[in-house]
Amino acid sequence: MAKILMINGSLHAGGFKEQLVNQIVALIGNRAEVSILDWGNVPMYVQNQEFPAPEIVTSVRKSVQSADAIWFVTPEYNYQIPGGLKNLTDWLSRSLDETNSRAESAIHGKITTVSAASSDGGSHVRPILEDLLAFIRTNVIRENATGVAIKPNNWASGKLDFSDDDIAALNRQAETLLVQLP
Ligand SMILES: Cc1cc2nc3c(=O)[nH]c(=O)nc-3n(C[C@H](O)[C@H](O)[C@H](O)COP(=O)(O)O)c2cc1C
Repeated sequence: MAKILMINGSLHAGGFKEQLVNQIVALIGNRAEVSILDWGNVPMYVQNQEFPAPEIVTSVRKSVQSADAIWFVTPEYNYQIPGGLKNLTDWLSRSLDETNSRAESAIHGKITTVSAASSDGGSHVRPILEDLLAFIRTNVIRENATGVAIKPNNWASGKLDFSDDDIAALNRQAETLLVQLP
């Protein structure tokens, strides 16, 4: 069965992005083996700490390498990719071969897709993250990428409400991804 790795760009336990990840996991159901990356302890990237890489970086890279596809769920911070998620992609973008900086990275060639949840569905951050994922040599599926808008009353309740359109869009994104997988 195909393996999908979810990367949540927010570390906010119980937050909107966690709710979005859980919704995606539920709607994929048994159509793929889905796991969620635990990346909260990845340190800031520092060039002279790459070889050997910190243990947590090696572990995160292994999870990425063993996945057929990576589904990113991102917040939007000041119209941008949040710093923590950008730092993680920087680690993932780096060559695994100390003698050849252009050799394969852990994420090279992976199928990727992006969803966001923010006030307007992450209309600014989604294309920025997609461009980054293309730049680091992943195969980004941009078709049917979903932005879930956080509705005004969701801020008070802390609960992300999904409209029927949100669910339909997420299902389309899941189907678009699943047909690409082994
Ligand atoms: C530094 C910072 C910048 C933010 N910038 C934006 C933004 O540009 N657009 C937006 O819709 N929300 C913005 N937000 C709100 C975040 O989207 C909000 O914190 C997030 O949706 C909460 O999601 P979470 O519970 O998944 O962490 C910003 C939040 C922070 C902390």
